[in-house]
Amino acid sequence: MKKVYIETYGCQMNEYDTELVRAVLMRDGYHMVDKEQEADIIMLNTCSVRDNANRKVYNRIHTLRHSRNGDPLLIGVLGCMATNFRQKLLNDRDLKLDFVVGPDSYKRLPSLIKEVEQSGKSAYDVTLSEFEDYADIYPSREIGVNAWIAVMRGCNNFCTFCVVPYTRGRERSRSPRNIVQEARRLANEGFKQVTLLGQNVNSYHFNGKDFAYLLEKVSQIQGLERIRFTSPHPKDFPHRLLHVVAENSKVCKHIHLPLQAGNSRVLELMNRTYSKEEYLTLVQDIRSHYPGMIITTDIIVGFPSETDVEFEDTVDVMQKVQFDAAYIFKYSERKGTIAARRFPDDVPENKKTERIVRLNELQNQISLEKNRQHIGEFQDVLIEQESTRKSPHDFQGRNDGNKIVIFPAGEYSKGEFVKVKITDATPHVLKGVVINQERTA
Ligand code: SAH
Ligand code: SF4
Ligand code: F3S
Repeated sequence: MKKVYIETYGCQMNEYDTELVRAVLMRDGYHMVDKEQEADIIMLNTCSVRDNANRKVYNRIHTLRHSRNGDPLLIGVLGCMATNFRQKLLNDRDLKLDFVVGPDSYKRLPSLIKEVEQSGKSAYDVTLSEFEDYADIYPSREIGVNAWIAVMRGCNNFCTFCVVPYTRGRERSRSPRNIVQEARRLANEGFKQVTLLGQNVNSYHFNGKDFAYLLEKVSQIQGLERIRFTSPHPKDFPHRLLHVVAENSKVCKHIHLPLQAGNSRVLELMNRTYSKEEYLTLVQDIRSHYPGMIITTDIIVGFPSETDVEFEDTVDVMQKVQFDAAYIFKYSERKGTIAARRFPDDVPENKKTERIVRLNELQNQISLEKNRQHIGEFQDVLIEQESTRKSPHDFQGRNDGNKIVIFPAGEYSKGEFVKVKITDATPHVLKGVVINQERTA
């Protein structure tokens, strides 16, 4: 039996895809292992969204080749780099890759591997499909607390900076019935939470059924206690959806709402299809439906031609909105994107650094302030694991707003809900003590 080791980079969609790949391979008799040293085949499920994600993978392949020099070992690249850099990857003699397989071709993995074994030559398939949704594959997950479910794949938005529409192809949604089946099975297996995934998850639509409909359907499943979703796009927030998120007790009160930039001219160049004012109005709308909604965001600094004055608009939006958390990135030019073709990457590196440092400092202050406002509250926390941060004597879980909550260990187990009184906060976590065991698993 061939042993396979997979390493996953990038977003949650890639994590989900790794679970699909495991299922495909196991069905074909492969055995999955946790240690690279034990593997006959190593796969890297890669990300291409920024240049440092790419570089990490190149370095990793070199290390793997070096450490297993001489072994009859196959190494392959899956995921977004596969589609984006197929030729470069295969032509690179140092990497000596055996296969390169894109996100829509995972069902062909077993036959491609056989092809490589028989011919001794490398193989690839990076064809993008308008239809592949893997609806017939039940991902092989580690039993845990949260399960990812991809409800749609691909992206049609073509934000000008972004490589995803090229690496993952056109948008397609799975049927609600198929998604509900998967979620039901997960509930039966003991998962308490599902996170519905899509590159642009709220553009989900299937035969007239939209994302609000899907959320409601999934929330009716017994045994599931929490439903999350990521990432939505600000352009697809009809009131009906806001209403479901605000009113449905199982849908978590957290919206990740990527801003990208605060200036309307820059937003237009990015093809984000909303202005600064429209974004701010949407945030107001969200808060009028649910004042305590946790809102997080993604921001890019140093998009081509972004001036100092325009950057101040991003600062302004951050101050006005008071995000609970923000993931801030320096613009990284991606080959083949509209921005790479049209706009020179002309904001100097030191400017990008200055801007990212400034935003991170500001966000840290805001996050700390926001988190401190929770002190004294009693929150329902779904336990995930022993704390990774401080000591083995702590446990950690998440509250409804997706914030990490740390508390002293007790007789609890993963997947259990506890009521925690929040006693302290940092910019990144809440700390507290368990008041009582709400419900048991
Ligand atoms: N589908 C998700 C985003 C996927 S990429 C969405 O639309 O929200 C995650 C984040 O990476 C983006 O929100 C953006 O902030 C950042 N990003 C994408 N392309 C980038 C680039 N070329 N340079 C820097 N950051 C980028
Ligand atoms: Fe990229 Fe924009 Fe699609 Fe998100 S919505 S994946 S940023 S093109
Ligand atoms: Fe990266 Fe692809 Fe996800 S580029 S962020 S792994 S969609």
